[in-house]
Amino acid sequence: MTRFGKVLLSALVLLALGACDTNGERPDAPADDPDTGLTAFEEEHGIGPFTEEVTLDEPVDEEMAAMGQDAFEMNCEACHMLDESFVGPAVGDVLDRRSPTFVMNMIMNPSEMADRHPVVQEMLREYPVVMPYQNITEEQARAIVEYLRATNDHQ
Ligand code: HEC
Repeated sequence: MTRFGKVLLSALVLLALGACDTNGERPDAPADDPDTGLTAFEEEHGIGPFTEEVTLDEPVDEEMAAMGQDAFEMNCEACHMLDESFVGPAVGDVLDRRSPTFVMNMIMNPSEMADRHPVVQEMLREYPVVMPYQNITEEQARAIVEYLRATNDHQ
């Protein structure tokens, strides 16, 4: 076997071992940061069902934003205001500090975010309530981002 072949083979064996990892962490996503145990993607975009970056290149979709407003008023306003902190931080300008994908993963998976994400752990010092998951669908989470974007002129 060539040297290249051997290197390739050991890489494959390592990959296979990684895939059999039974410690419960996502085996296909080795941590990039040993301190946090998170991948670079997770650090920037959060931990949850959205594993690809959502970009906001299109103009605001008014229909989607209206659906997002409904979902926000029903499920989020008990704790969040747009421009003042309340039980949780003000979220009118959240897209200035977090990526859309981070916001969506926070909506879908807040307890794991509280357990594992350093940004959320930092927020918990100021807002000592673990945000609950509110039975939001992925489509609604995306629509809430559209609403936050529309209210913040974040286009
Ligand atoms: C019971 C109160 C509560 C409800 C309901 C709630 N949140 Fe939160 N949210 C919080 C708290 C508290 C935090 C700060 C992090 C923490 O302590 O868990 C937070 C954090 C966030 C963040 C991160 C803010 C930042 O600056 O990074 C976003 C985004 C967010 N919430 C959006 C929502 C949306 C959208 C909904 C509705 C689907 C919602 N939240 C429902 C309490 C709540």
